[in-house]
Amino acid sequence: MQKKGLFITFEGTDGCGKTTQLNMAAEFLKSKGYEVVITREPGALETGKKIRQILLHSEEKLSDYCEMFLFLADRAQHVEALIKPAVEQGKIVLCDRHKDSHIAYQGYGREKNAQLIKELNQIAVNGIEPDLTLLYCVSPEVAMKRLSGAPDRIEAEGTKFQERVLEGYKKIAKENPERIKVINADNSVETVYNDTKNTIIELIEKKFEV
Ligand SMILES: Nc1ncnc2c1ncn2[C@@H]1O[C@H](COP(=O)(O)OP(=O)(O)OP(=O)(O)O)[C@@H](O)[C@H]1O
Ligand SMILES: [Mg+2]
Repeated sequence: MQKKGLFITFEGTDGCGKTTQLNMAAEFLKSKGYEVVITREPGALETGKKIRQILLHSEEKLSDYCEMFLFLADRAQHVEALIKPAVEQGKIVLCDRHKDSHIAYQGYGREKNAQLIKELNQIAVNGIEPDLTLLYCVSPEVAMKRLSGAPDRIEAEGTKFQERVLEGYKKIAKENPERIKVINADNSVETVYNDTKNTIIELIEKKFEV
């Protein structure tokens, strides 16, 4: 029996298949009768959309700290206004990117202070920790091919950047072996989905059916 909801985050570098897998997982969970909430960071809520607007379209060059605090502000609001209440109501929240993206991209990709970003994120999330994080690891070359319709997205920052982000994600996974499940995302959509589904089923059995 479902007692309380779940918070599951989907992480990985650009084009690894997060959104594809999130949508498939949502359909599966709905078919099993769970109430599912799909959300994403940054910019899921009204405040977040305004923040995203600043992040993407500011005419002024944003300082590193300004950018860092904007991401944190978006996350803090998202957690309080959407994630926490939904989990408390027994829903399963599937979130496309969350704090690990921030740590991996800004902390490791851009080689800023990863430790500080981790600590500030713990303040922003105010006690909410994902029950499970699915980390899709794809080699940058495979991701590049998948995003061939939009090559700029990876080329804008460069393959080296994506490699640093991927290494960062792997470090975060090593530090959080209980929470983060690493999935080989070089495989076909079906194989990756099988891993996604099995991992989620395992979590549900552990959480709800004891
Ligand atoms: N396992 C896979 N094998 C081959 N193609 C895939 C696989 N998973 C996703 N794709 C395709 O790769 C592209 C990127 O997938 P998707 O949008 O799910 O990635 P994403 O991680 O959400 O990307 P972004 O970081 O840009 O949001 C899509 O065209 C999708 O259909
Ligand atoms: Mg996506």
